Amino acid sequence: MRIAIGSDHGGYLLKEHLKKWLGQNKLAFDDFGADGPASVDYPDFGKHVARAVVKGQYDFGIIICGTGIGISIAANKVKGARAALVYDEETACLAKQHNNANIIALGGRTTSNERAEQIIKAYMNATYESRHQPRIQKISDIEEEET
Ligand code: RB5
Repeated sequence: MRIAIGSDHGGYLLKEHLKKWLGQNKLAFDDFGADGPASVDYPDFGKHVARAVVKGQYDFGIIICGTGIGISIAANKVKGARAALVYDEETACLAKQHNNANIIALGGRTTSNERAEQIIKAYMNATYESRHQPRIQKISDIEEEET
């Protein structure tokens, strides 16, 4: 299991917390930045994590901005990215079961450290239900139609 994690300044503190938590749980990760709390642009970090995940270098990604909104919009511009903005265990679980999300987006200003841990555990413990594949295929079809 290998995880790509990245954030802007709005998600920096939650990212730093999750890095410690991932390490304590023996989950390997690479940090794509930001490297500090100074103001940066969330599309840069969403893009880099999404590209690394889509290339198959990681099992999944975690991206964090202030709300999770901007960075998930940016990540989803990368072909093959399915970034899900989730806010509790139920949405985390469904993001895997129904949407085969390969990236979880969180809000550093909206999600507590403890809730974020619960979300990641729920996502990792869930299994994609392949009966949803025709819908996932339609998402891929849209990508082809738009290129
Ligand atoms: C940055 O101030 C903030 O806009 C960003 O972290 C995020 O919340 C955008 O969606």
